[in-house]
Amino acid sequence: MSRETILTGLRTNAEYHLGNYIGAILPMVHMAKSKSDEYQINLFAPDLHSFTTPIDHSKFYRQTIDNIKMFIACGMPVDHDNVHIYRQSRISAHSELTWILSNFTGFGEMSRMVEFKEKSERLKEDRVSVGLFSYPILMAADILLYGAKWVPVGEDQRQHLEFTRDIAMRMNNQFGDMFVLPETIQKQQEFVSRDSAPRIRSLRDPSKKMSKSVDDPAGTIQLSDTAEVATKKIMSATTDSVGVVNYDWDNQPGITNLLTIIALLSGKSQQEVNDQWTGCERYGDLKKAAAEVVSITLAGVQEKSTAISDDQLEEFLVASESAVQETALETLCKVQKAIGLR
Ligand code: TRP
Repeated sequence: MSRETILTGLRTNAEYHLGNYIGAILPMVHMAKSKSDEYQINLFAPDLHSFTTPIDHSKFYRQTIDNIKMFIACGMPVDHDNVHIYRQSRISAHSELTWILSNFTGFGEMSRMVEFKEKSERLKEDRVSVGLFSYPILMAADILLYGAKWVPVGEDQRQHLEFTRDIAMRMNNQFGDMFVLPETIQKQQEFVSRDSAPRIRSLRDPSKKMSKSVDDPAGTIQLSDTAEVATKKIMSATTDSVGVVNYDWDNQPGITNLLTIIALLSGKSQQEVNDQWTGCERYGDLKKAAAEVVSITLAGVQEKSTAISDDQLEEFLVASESAVQETALETLCKVQKAIGLR
């Protein structure tokens, strides 16, 4: 039997920040390292997805390349035959299968997607595109082309994964088995517990999670920030008036956020870090310690990402893309035959 595939898409339309690093990139790197002997691992940049909401097209290509480099710099193994990293737009079967699937998808089915409802609400002033509406069909194609059983995604993407199972089942019923179904949400959760992925908070407003810097410049540390900039942000992080360090998300979220960042980036256990700092009355010292581990981490990934040349990355991506293309075309061909195109 061939190996099972783990597949996930990594958005590239915004710069990565420390929250992405801790909550998504590191867990994925860890997964790739620990499972690449047993599984096929497909990680791709859903670059076609990026147009569903307005972006700066003149910066987009560079952004995608820099983000993929950053990803590799964070430890993604690229020297492994079973790990492929590719750009969605380079495998045209994604778009072709999307069109086919969209003819078997109900308008009402798409209208119920929560992400669509939320995003289209936020876009009110702008045009809400058909792309945003039908995007989950593209996501289903991303998954079904490779027969991926395991699709680690966050909570906000689960409905799309459910839809992927629905459309695959519907087509298998009508045309005979042509798609491998991704596992149920429950099994996915057991497989990689993304729920336990640590979430860090905004430095400015620690009641919110760390988000894109455009929304929250002072609260967000970019992976590209210099040590100086990162230190400045941490030294002015919002804390509280309690005056004593305690690990307590409810009453001292700012301080607790810093304790969490220190533990996650230094590789120490939370307990060990808490034991060291609990009771300390000098918030400035805690901030300095956080700034130091953050600066070391940033310098490390930045050094590694600048060491990757554009040519090297292109060569690697093209090789990955030609490897995955084979599988994608095989599936597409099967579907074309089944529905009467071949
Ligand atoms: N929609 C996902 C997100 O917004 C990214 C994505 C696109 C994806 N295609 C996918 C994730 C296929 C998993 C599988 O984060």
